[in-house]
Amino acid sequence: MGQRYVLPDLAYDHGALEPHISGRVLELHHGKHHAGYVKNANEVLEQLDEARRARDFARIAALERGLAFNLSGHVLHSIFWQNMMPKGGGRPTGELATALERDFGDFDAFKKQMNAVASTIMGSGWAALVWEPIGQRLLLTQIYDHQSNLAQSGVPLLVLDAWEHAYYLQYENRKAEFFEAVWNVWNWADVAERFASARKVNVRLKRAAA
Ligand SMILES: [Fe+2]
Repeated sequence: MGQRYVLPDLAYDHGALEPHISGRVLELHHGKHHAGYVKNANEVLEQLDEARRARDFARIAALERGLAFNLSGHVLHSIFWQNMMPKGGGRPTGELATALERDFGDFDAFKKQMNAVASTIMGSGWAALVWEPIGQRLLLTQIYDHQSNLAQSGVPLLVLDAWEHAYYLQYENRKAEFFEAVWNVWNWADVAERFASARKVNVRLKRAAA
C-alpha cells in the first residue's frame, strides 16, 4: 500500500475569506466534509486490500465507486482551498490570461460561462476550469458529484464547489450570490502555477494516420 491520504491544512484562518465565505462554513466544509472524504478514501483502500488478500471481489464495483467518489472529493477540495486567498480576486495576468482570452474570448465571457456551469448543475457537483492536453486548450467542465463528466486527461486548474454544503448555511438558496462572491477570493497566482504545471502533461496519444 502507498501513502494514506491526509487532510491538508488551510493556508489561512477559517474567517480569512469573510465576508465572501463565512468562517463557520469554511470550518465545517474543511474540517467535516473534506475530512470525511479523506477518511473514506483511506477506508476504501483498506477494504480493497482486504478483498485482494481474500481473493473476494464480490463488492469490487461498490468499492471502486467509493474510491472514485471520495478520492476525487479529496483532490477537488484540496485544489479549491488553494485556489482561494484572503484579498484575492481581480484578474489573471501573463500566459494564463492570454490562454483564457484565446479559449473563451475574454475574461468576462469566461466568468459568465463558469458561473453558468456552476449554477446549472443538477444535484451536487463542481464547475472546473481544466487544461485539456490533447487539444492543448482550456475547457470548462461540469463535474457531477466529484468525479463524473470530466473528460479523461483534463487537469483541474480552478474549481468551484457547487454542493449545498459549500454555501447553504450562509447564502441559503441564493447560490448565485455565492458563485459571484468567490470571484473576490480567487488566487490567480495559484491557478497560473497549476496552468504551468499542467502544460507539461504528455498523454502520449499517437496521432491518427493522415
Ligand atoms: Fe465541498
